[in-house]
Amino acid sequence: MIHVKARSSPYPGSRVKRFPVPDGYVSWSIPWPKYEPVDYTADIIKAGPEWADPDFRMEGQSEHGPRFNAVDGRIDRRSFQGCYELDEDKLPRNPMGRTGITSRGLLGKWGPNHAADPIVTRWKREAGEKVIHELSGKPILQFVAIKRKDCGEWAIPGGMVDDGELVSATLKREFGEEALDSLTASKLEKDLLRTLFQSVFSKEKAKEVFAGYVDDPRNTDNAWMETVATNFHDDTGDSVGQMDLQSGDDAGCVQWSDIDQKLQLYAMHSHFLKRVTDLWDAHW
Ligand code: BGC
Repeated sequence: MIHVKARSSPYPGSRVKRFPVPDGYVSWSIPWPKYEPVDYTADIIKAGPEWADPDFRMEGQSEHGPRFNAVDGRIDRRSFQGCYELDEDKLPRNPMGRTGITSRGLLGKWGPNHAADPIVTRWKREAGEKVIHELSGKPILQFVAIKRKDCGEWAIPGGMVDDGELVSATLKREFGEEALDSLTASKLEKDLLRTLFQSVFSKEKAKEVFAGYVDDPRNTDNAWMETVATNFHDDTGDSVGQMDLQSGDDAGCVQWSDIDQKLQLYAMHSHFLKRVTDLWDAHW
């Protein structure tokens, strides 16, 4: 895989243009003396929110520096891609190669920034029967999709793993925050949602479809996104499959979307959905 979104300009939320990196120069193993990446850290990261690392390059920070490639206190700084290298400034080096930007951009952590993506699916049905796609001859899956407020793209309702949090907890929390509008639902509806939610998010139902580096537009040479995408499938449609969906949290809209290869989704989300269709032998 060679990253593409991680080389796109402008950098999200800014006018910053990355140093252009042609395909042939992505790999760090190709020497490129003329490489002059732009140094960029977004103001929100510079302001030092509690979820972000300090700027370890500043004087006096070095002896308290992070333990890379390890579980560092409450922060997991290991990569799913294996051991990553540190550059001459002792900063993590993006395992997939050059991006045209150094420092962290919008990302809080140096090195891997971990996310989790819950893919909740049901079969598309009409009058109780599974709908078969006329070309592939296979049944169609639907997943819970949200429209991201930051970029307007449709996406899986995922989010960042908090420090010290288990991925299994992030999957539930993010789905709850982004896809279930707990604020506008009545008490009765909320109780029902909670019960349905517990049953579909069980360990037995969880099927991991991806764990690794994500080609994300926020990646830099020193900070990048990784995610665990997990499928929770309601085969009979009588659990979360019967859920009515409304928007909540930082998601603009939420709906059941048919899964098809034509879907244009955020970051690498359509790649994860392809794996889900393989798992259930569904239409793609
Ligand atoms: C998103 C996830 C996504 C990850 C990597 C996170 O901010 O919430 O859905 O997979 O970034 O792109």
